[in-house]
Amino acid sequence: MKKIALVALLALSLLLPAFLAMAQDDLKEIKSEAFGKLQRPAVAFDHNAHNEKAQIEDCLVCHHSGENGVQDKTTGSEGTPCSECHKVKPTDKKATSLMRAYHKQCIACHTEKKKGPLACGECHVRKK
Ligand code: HEC
Ligand code: HEC
Ligand code: HEC
Ligand code: HEC
Repeated sequence: MKKIALVALLALSLLLPAFLAMAQDDLKEIKSEAFGKLQRPAVAFDHNAHNEKAQIEDCLVCHHSGENGVQDKTTGSEGTPCSECHKVKPTDKKATSLMRAYHKQCIACHTEKKKGPLACGECHVRKK
């Protein structure tokens, strides 16, 4: 009995991290509820495949933190939606709006790397 329980526990401890990682990072598109009704189709973004293909290893490249209008590029915020900090219509005029936050981050890197989509319809892909 004891042995079976031990084996089961071992199997679980080995499998659990894999399941958790899958559940957390299995993001295929960006469709923030904060926008309400979307003007454009949700954005195709296969999180892990994208980052592998683009060879981005540091999560901080996209998941920074910050508060009171000051960005903190040394502390990660993986798992926190951008909308937690970037409002659709910020009251502070200097703050980066949610749409601008996505656009600036995605497009700046694609422009710099000369790789990845730049046109509206390439990111906001209309479903057939
Ligand atoms: C190229 C940019 C980019 C990189 C690099 C990146 N992420 Fe993300 N990640 C995103 C975006 C965009 C979202 C969606 C955020 C939102 O919902 O507003 C996201 C969402 C997530 C989520 C939530 C998933 C969900 O289903 O809602 C987790 C967890 C996460 N990322 C972890 C990581 C980890 C860990 C790394 C580093 C290994 C990483 N990310 C690297 C852009 C990135
Ligand atoms: C914990 C809070 C927090 C989260 C989560 C967060 N940001 Fe930010 N971000 C800030 C703060 C604070 C600033 C600086 C003030 C501003 O520009 O609004 C900032 C600035 C920015 C800027 C402008 C500066 C620059 O680098 O060009 C962009 C773009 C940006 N964030 C994109 C994103 C994206 C995309 C996500 C989600 C993947 C995200 N942020 C998640 C807090 C956050
Ligand atoms: C730090 C750099 C960086 C950031 C940030 C980034 N990308 Fe990319 N992206 C790339 C590179 C590099 C490629 C080209 C990969 C290749 O084909 O070699 C790419 C390719 C893509 C592609 C084509 C997919 C494919 O499989 O060929 C899509 C779609 C895309 N990016 C969407 C996004 C979106 C949406 C965001 C913002 C949430 C984003 N990217 C942020 C670097 C980045
Ligand atoms: C590199 C990818 C990329 C490109 C290129 C891009 N966008 Fe976006 N855009 C995003 C992401 C990611 C979001 C957040 C999507 C979401 O949450 O539904 C977004 C959000 C938006 C939103 C707010 C959400 C909505 O649908 O109401 C609008 C409007 C928008 N984009 C219009 C445009 C227009 C117009 C262009 C071309 C001038 C464009 N985008 C180009 C990635 C991109």
